[in-house]
Amino acid sequence: MLVLGIESSCDETAAAVVEDGHIVHSNVVASQDELHIEYGGVVPEIASRAHVERMLPVIEKAIIQANITPSELDGIAVGNRPGLIGALLVGVTAAKSIAWSLDIPFVAVDHVLAHLYAPNLGDSQIEYPALGLVVSGGHTSILNLASPTDAACICKTVDDAAGEAFDKAASILELGWPGGPLIEKAAQGGELEHKLPRTKKKKGETFSYSFSGLKTALLYGIKGIPKRINGALTYERQASDLSVQEKSNWAASFQAAAVDSIMKGVAIVFEEGNFQSIVAGGGVTANKTLRYQLQEFAIEHDSKLHIPNFEYCIDNGAMIAGLGTAFLRQNISNSLATTASPKGVAS
Ligand code: KG4
Ligand code: ZN
Repeated sequence: MLVLGIESSCDETAAAVVEDGHIVHSNVVASQDELHIEYGGVVPEIASRAHVERMLPVIEKAIIQANITPSELDGIAVGNRPGLIGALLVGVTAAKSIAWSLDIPFVAVDHVLAHLYAPNLGDSQIEYPALGLVVSGGHTSILNLASPTDAACICKTVDDAAGEAFDKAASILELGWPGGPLIEKAAQGGELEHKLPRTKKKKGETFSYSFSGLKTALLYGIKGIPKRINGALTYERQASDLSVQEKSNWAASFQAAAVDSIMKGVAIVFEEGNFQSIVAGGGVTANKTLRYQLQEFAIEHDSKLHIPNFEYCIDNGAMIAGLGTAFLRQNISNSLATTASPKGVAS
């Protein structure tokens, strides 16, 4: 079964052709980083307009690179939730139009669930039920995965997502955007000099992630507690006053606290549940410290970790095509009346 997957939930315009849910024939990703860099974050309206310009060339490239003709496709999959609504609508409209014109099934999938499908691209055989950890720019959640297509949210963040925290930390340290890879790079050679807060489980409450306290501790640690002078919040120091080594120490301390917090949730949920394996996905799973700690955890707990190859950690069309195939194989498809939604399984 040959499926075209389309992704436009945030700031990557992506399309891929995947065979039988595992064999990736093409995976084209057009990043919009350069359009958002001066704002230090994704501007939804700019993202939507850029998707409109890039969507058809990206789809065309995916078809050409896969060395197929559109008539060979058996189905079209699109991520229709959760995400930026204007951005999602571009992908959904393209997917429905192509499915209608080729008269083939159309399936709309959850982007978060697709991140947890990503380790299936290649040879991996995942054992279910699995603990599904999604750590991305928009989500930090743990799901109970009964199968690739069947998930229930166990816990999520009450404020920032992990990737968002990495992005904000990079902005505080004046490293640039997107922040995750820049923090990881700056952390190399850094000392764990600063003790920053980790997410804790509150007594008598179920576990939830929280990263806003970590971000604020980093901000105040670097710049001091702000005072209001003539109505404006004024800081004692700036990140530009720090040496390269000092920035590196802050980045390493932040990364250690963020990864420890992610692992805390994994440990609590894993020990309370009955899981055959651990599945991780989302942009933050590109982080080598997190990958190492997840691997160590799986070994210590006699479990197996399934984590995507680097190219499938960030948003891509292959994971959408793969998950779409899993639904199409169960004869599940969507009507062309289906639209986009900002909410999904982990929202
Ligand atoms: O999954 P993704 O591409 O988009 C969303 O669905 O949100 O994730 C993007 C996020 C960004 O916040 C980015 O800073 C983070 O993933 N990220 C990383 C790394 N690479 C990307 N965070 C930490 N370490 C990395 N190496
Ligand atoms: Zn994503």
